Amino acid sequence: MLDNKDGVYTPSADFVKNAHIDSSKYSEMYAASVSDPEGFWGEHGRSLDWIKPYTKVKDTSFAHDDVHVRWFEDGTLNVAANCIDRHLATRGDQTAIIFEPDDPAEPAQHITYRELHRQVCKLSNVLEDLGVRKGDRVILYMPMIPEAAYAMLACARIGAIHSIVFAGFSPDALSARINGADARLLITADYAPRGGRQTPLKSNADAALLHTRDDVKMLVVKRTGGQTTWVDGRDFDYHELMLEADEVQHPVEVEAEHPLFILYTSGSTGQPKGVVHSSGGYLLYAAMTQKYVFDVHEGDVYWCTADVGWVTGHSYIVYGPLANGGTTVMFEGVPTYPDASRFWQVCDKHKVTQFYTAPTAIRALMAKGPEFVETCDLSSLRVLGTVGEPINPEAWNWYNDLVGKGRCPIVDTWWQTETGGHLLTPLPGAIATKPGSATLPFFGVQPVVLDPHSGAEITETECEGVLCLKDSWPGQMRTVYGDHERFVKTYFSDYKGYYFSGDGCRRDADGYYWITGRVDDVINVSGHRMGTAEVESALVAHAKVAEAAVVGYPHDIKGQGIYCYVTLMNGEEPSEELRKELRTWVRTEIGPIAAPDLIQWAPGLPKTRSGKIMRRILRKIAEDDFGALGDTSTLADPSVVEDLIENRMNKK
Ligand code: WTA
Repeated sequence: MLDNKDGVYTPSADFVKNAHIDSSKYSEMYAASVSDPEGFWGEHGRSLDWIKPYTKVKDTSFAHDDVHVRWFEDGTLNVAANCIDRHLATRGDQTAIIFEPDDPAEPAQHITYRELHRQVCKLSNVLEDLGVRKGDRVILYMPMIPEAAYAMLACARIGAIHSIVFAGFSPDALSARINGADARLLITADYAPRGGRQTPLKSNADAALLHTRDDVKMLVVKRTGGQTTWVDGRDFDYHELMLEADEVQHPVEVEAEHPLFILYTSGSTGQPKGVVHSSGGYLLYAAMTQKYVFDVHEGDVYWCTADVGWVTGHSYIVYGPLANGGTTVMFEGVPTYPDASRFWQVCDKHKVTQFYTAPTAIRALMAKGPEFVETCDLSSLRVLGTVGEPINPEAWNWYNDLVGKGRCPIVDTWWQTETGGHLLTPLPGAIATKPGSATLPFFGVQPVVLDPHSGAEITETECEGVLCLKDSWPGQMRTVYGDHERFVKTYFSDYKGYYFSGDGCRRDADGYYWITGRVDDVINVSGHRMGTAEVESALVAHAKVAEAAVVGYPHDIKGQGIYCYVTLMNGEEPSEELRKELRTWVRTEIGPIAAPDLIQWAPGLPKTRSGKIMRRILRKIAEDDFGALGDTSTLADPSVVEDLIENRMNKK
């Protein structure tokens, strides 16, 4: 049992005894990792298989005029060989991937390391035959099927750089990312079954290719065999090409700093950024965090419920677990299909030992009632994890009591697309937890809290401010694809000499960190990052919209909902239909995850005399916090605010 004293949960003696890291080992290793990063990472870096071993460990600088991040720079390796080939001798027959399809009646697949090797080698040959070479970018727009993992690993095997576009994104978002990466190959599927419904990926991809160069090819996995259109010479059938492909393929040697993937993520401007991750440092960091944060042991069955379209799926479904030679579950479906016990049925069926999900899923399932959990045998579970947004204590307790039966440490992991892996997180056998806190830094991570106004580092233990990092860690992003200046400007300019996370935080008397949420114009909807500027540009692209401002508001299940203030063009009349039309519009422009929850018609937006929208006020109105509107004396027209308050939308 976890011991709960004053809201602090300590792991049982039994758990600690079997854990990789206990509290004294954590303190010792953490101290070593920050006092001598070269020595620490130099030693741990050797846990990977290098083709040419590195002699240099760390060359990093956060100085504004010279930002660079390089790790293990003169070493070479192959990421896929690290995730597959090196395990063949000892665990060729062990299951690497358990595939659990959307439909529970469809049998699960157990893919061994040997079979994974075969599939990835063949696909690597297929990609090479299609003209893909080291350094080329390949876009993946895939369901959560084993072929998605094969495609990632095949790219890595030939040194190509994958960029995954979440299957919930629209054709427009897809074509923007194909063009942004200047890719010539798109790997997709006919349909993506999810929750009993099917997303038509192939037809979305067809639509996307209308807005790209003409020579982009498509490799299509026939997942359902449903009807699609086919363009001969452009579209290729995955399974047909795989049938003929050679099984022998030698992994391509790449430099440690060679980009492994690009992943687009939202920021405070309208355009998503292509976050670039490296091969050597990234893989080491993903592997080490996966092993220690989930305390993974031989024979474990580890399940992260994320989608490979997000960074969590990259680091904690594919690269981390496979680099460690583990067994990882890939789940195609959703938590509530066929009913709200699906997660727990899958845990029961595959005897899952570590389970990692998002607070929004926990809240949604909590709302359905305890019986969906209670009917499943969850005795195999040992560690539970959460990611993506702050977890409210109510959800934490439900997770702890009902799912973990009070015996499983909960690791609340704080990190970002940019960080490649966990930065603040408990290690389950070492760090006592407090519901809602991501606790303490992982090895080598040096968090600091800065005063948001002066930018000065706050040295008192108990404090609140913006969360920055003082020094690099191997999993850190290297640049924004094609725009290093934007990398410097976004992360190293507001607070010189530090990496700025964009999050606010509080540090308590025990030195524990509590993330308070984004301090920029990014909102967190169901654990997904959404730039409010992106939704605004989608709205103003509609012919009837003159102006729009988008903010987040507290939402019971999603964490934050999307609240839009919309000013219509002269002569346009507000109506329920138009509201629906705008909602559909944003869904097609960006994707369903960006669909507005509430749209308020705003005859005017609160602006300063110089024309700047005062978002602070809009946020307060959306939060129903009228008492705290703050200084409104700089408003050009204060009556605008009164109108907005009077006509605010009622939240559900
Ligand atoms: C938020 C997801 C509180 C945070 C891995 C961060 C969290 C953003 C947590 C990154 C957590 C992530 N507690 N907030 N445990 N984990 N966040 O890039 O605001 O999709 O900056 O990466 O999610 O989202 P991203």
